[in-house]
Amino acid sequence: MTAVPPAHCRVASKVACATFLAIKEGKTDENLSIYSLSRRSQRRSVLAAFSDAYRVLKPNSFCVCFYGWNRVDEFFSAWRRAGFRPVGHIVWQKNYASSTGFLQSRHEQAYLLIKGNPDRPAKPIADVRAWEYTGNRAHPIEKAVSILTPLIQAFSKRGDLVLDPFSGSGSTAVASLLSGRRYIGIELEDRYCRQSRTRLAGAAKYAARKAA
Ligand SMILES: C[S@@+](CC[C@H](N)C(=O)[O-])C[C@H]1O[C@@H](n2cnc3c(N)ncnc32)[C@H](O)[C@@H]1O
Repeated sequence: MTAVPPAHCRVASKVACATFLAIKEGKTDENLSIYSLSRRSQRRSVLAAFSDAYRVLKPNSFCVCFYGWNRVDEFFSAWRRAGFRPVGHIVWQKNYASSTGFLQSRHEQAYLLIKGNPDRPAKPIADVRAWEYTGNRAHPIEKAVSILTPLIQAFSKRGDLVLDPFSGSGSTAVASLLSGRRYIGIELEDRYCRQSRTRLAGAAKYAARKAA
């Protein structure tokens, strides 16, 4: 895995408002050394991406970052080094356990970060929310469009440009399109880029039918 390529960052230099970084730990691959090697470099590239995310965001804008609860120290250091300020924390409650260890894992979490001093949303959303399981058909850790939509609507305006530098199957892009925002998704793996294009084509048709 490589760091977010500079070319992508140049494209993203017009970013208007929100960055969505969707990051989660793998679950069952701890004993595979080849895989954990690539996971280590993936971790480095994820953490290194925050300074680029900060650089390309407009002044006074938001970043929502999902993160692994057991790496909060690394994430916090990377966010602060980049210049972000944490202003809120969101927890999604699951009605199922995604894994069981000392506890049943029944939540996901994200920090709300700011660059500068953006205006507060007119109607702030609750910081405890219901999780929706997608079935992970498009991506092994796919987020539901319904999870991302309230974030996009609260922290960006119509016409803004939303960036997801780790966009997987394009859920953030689909949520942005359906919310009247523009979007840039950056994804390493071809199969998820193809998946994103298919999903976006479907979402664009749906949006056009709704508008007609
Ligand atoms: C948690 S997944 C995103 C899932 C997405 N939210 C969805 O709903 O499908 C993170 C994605 O980041 C991609 N990725 C990891 N390192 C990357 C890098 N350096 N540049 C671009 N994409 C990267 C992975 O291939 C993976 O698909």
